[in-house]
Amino acid sequence: MKYWDSFWSDGADSGCIGTADRLRESFPSYYESWEQVVKELLKTCKSSFRCLDVACGKGEVSKVLSEYLPDTEVNFTGIDRANISYSLDISGHSVELFSGANFGKFFNTNKKFELIVSSFGMEYLPIEESARLLNEYIENDGLVALNMHLNDSVISKVSLEEISAIRDFFHDDKLALIEKELSTHFNVELAKAYLIRLNELNEQHDRRLAGCGLTDAVVNSFASSQRKMSTSIDLKSVKSTYEDYIERLNDQLRASRKAQELRQLVSKLDFETLYSKKLYNVKNELTSQFLLLRK
Ligand SMILES: C[S@@+](CC[C@H](N)C(=O)[O-])C[C@H]1O[C@@H](n2cnc3c(N)ncnc32)[C@H](O)[C@@H]1O
Repeated sequence: MKYWDSFWSDGADSGCIGTADRLRESFPSYYESWEQVVKELLKTCKSSFRCLDVACGKGEVSKVLSEYLPDTEVNFTGIDRANISYSLDISGHSVELFSGANFGKFFNTNKKFELIVSSFGMEYLPIEESARLLNEYIENDGLVALNMHLNDSVISKVSLEEISAIRDFFHDDKLALIEKELSTHFNVELAKAYLIRLNELNEQHDRRLAGCGLTDAVVNSFASSQRKMSTSIDLKSVKSTYEDYIERLNDQLRASRKAQELRQLVSKLDFETLYSKKLYNVKNELTSQFLLLRK
């Protein structure tokens, strides 16, 4: 989980797919779906209930639900194998977390939940763990809401393209030669030659290197060397950041394959499907599959 730990500790301040402010504009169908969940919940819910947020990250889903339910007492439990933590602004809402080394301890609890939610999350877990969560941790009449990755989504497409672009960056002979010289004597001409080649690679890959922030990271590293009047540059830290990044993209692709298994699992369990919808962003690109089920 090193690559998720570093993602969350490196300042990802909210959700995995972006911060709430930008998401509300670019992905309104996501929020509409959570509003549906809240409407359904309020049909049967008492004045308080328990909600399990699976692979919660920094609690983006808990936060969205918390805002929609200011007058209901909600006890959230967030579980995630990475080291994460979050809190909620609404005083009637509590959060208990099982994260990092404590993740497994959740399975020693025998709490049941009126609502289990997960956004781009449950499909990251081994399918046996998901089966346990859906079988053992949901109250009768409870709701399960899952926003899941898809193989043919724009997210999976971008992951594949970014992996290919970053791999080419790692293995480019011309960049390697210039980097070798730069690592012994930094000078502006060499740095320019490096950036020109990086820009060529970026253009060859439909600007994916810029899209994932790699070109900026290299420029910042050069600028920092110049500021320190260093006689050489060291791109180790940029490279290790993007090695982690590739691991996370691969994890996302594995999760989108596992999401198919998860949908099959759900179809075999005793749930009524209340809502099943493919979600698109404002550019009309397929983004995910949303499922709302009742036990
Ligand atoms: C795409 S992020 C989604 C986070 C959050 N639900 C959100 O919407 O922002 C995937 C999350 O799954 C977690 N994760 C990955 N593999 C996991 C596993 N095997 N068990 C539990 N959590 C896992 C990661 O740490 C990360 O927080």
